[in-house]
Amino acid sequence: MLLHGRHSRTIWPEGDTVAVLDQRVLPHRVQTLVLRSVHDAVRAIADMAVRGAPLIGVTGAYGLALQTRADAGDAALQRAARELEAARPTAVNLAWAVRRALARLLPLPPAGRADAAWAIAARLADDDVDVNRRIGEHGAALLRLLAERRRGEPLQILTHCNAGWLATVDWGTALAPIYRAHAQRLPLHVWVDETRPRNQGASLTAFELREQGVPHTVIADNAGGHLMQRGRVDAVIVGCDRVSARGDVANKIGTYLKALAAHDCGVPFYVAMPSSTLDCTLDDGFDIPIEERPAREVTHLTGRDAGGAIVQVQLVPDGTSAANPAFDVTPARLVTALISECGVVPATAEAIAALAAGEVAT
Ligand code: MRU
Repeated sequence: MLLHGRHSRTIWPEGDTVAVLDQRVLPHRVQTLVLRSVHDAVRAIADMAVRGAPLIGVTGAYGLALQTRADAGDAALQRAARELEAARPTAVNLAWAVRRALARLLPLPPAGRADAAWAIAARLADDDVDVNRRIGEHGAALLRLLAERRRGEPLQILTHCNAGWLATVDWGTALAPIYRAHAQRLPLHVWVDETRPRNQGASLTAFELREQGVPHTVIADNAGGHLMQRGRVDAVIVGCDRVSARGDVANKIGTYLKALAAHDCGVPFYVAMPSSTLDCTLDDGFDIPIEERPAREVTHLTGRDAGGAIVQVQLVPDGTSAANPAFDVTPARLVTALISECGVVPATAEAIAALAAGEVAT
């Protein structure tokens, strides 16, 4: 998507290194971070210089590629894979991508692994772009249907966190239908949840919608229910970090409350889901591991001061303890449908099994 008017991806190889957009300083600075080793990749994922389920998966694959430059032996690759997977536990895309890459590398002779690892990571990155583009097509068709009821008035969409191109290699998942529909000149407006504690909505979603020229308004997380009650939201679209076999959805903390409000107000609640986010080994979404992040993300806020410096300020009294569960689980019964790269499907065990088996036509 566009970054200061030029097309960009979030991650790309640069010689023997990997470059990523450093999301810790967005929207205030556009800065590239160079990853030179698997440890750099682990740190970038854990510190959220890169974040979003699909993007951390691709970063994990590039992390293994970086490891092959130092030592491509079985033990070194297996250790690197373990470290990468442990960097963030909830989004299954990370384990999915790392395990996929490792399974293809280990049967090869060590001398051939480096070239193969870089090619695998590049392929995963390209596949991610293609999958998200297809989610965009299917989702845009859905938005056009919803817009028929608006009779030319802008379609009002609410989203939580950042599931845009910054969370993927390109396009995004939840925002891909919005970008596609916007390009097709469908009038729309996006309510952007700020998404405490790290404010991915206020900082990243607002940034990328602005860069693409999509009309939007940032709201406090608590405002969504009120807007839905007043008929000011036509649909909610969010991304996901892991979807269980029966359709329960783990996504950024606060998603569940939006789903409850949407259910109460009769607002459709859609989840954009690349198939790499499906975890058919789990049936019950409550078995999905929920990442607990540092309390400091709750007790402090990061922003830009009047002089342009990026600063952190403390919100709470000294010594206050804080809890920071980073994701929650929305039960399948609250999900209107999943927007996958193969089409829009209900969040049911049957539909998900068919999707996983490749039985849903694209
Ligand atoms: O903690 P984050 O910023 O990595 O969480 C991101 C989300 O919850 C996204 O909604 C999800 O990863 C889908 S991204 C296409």
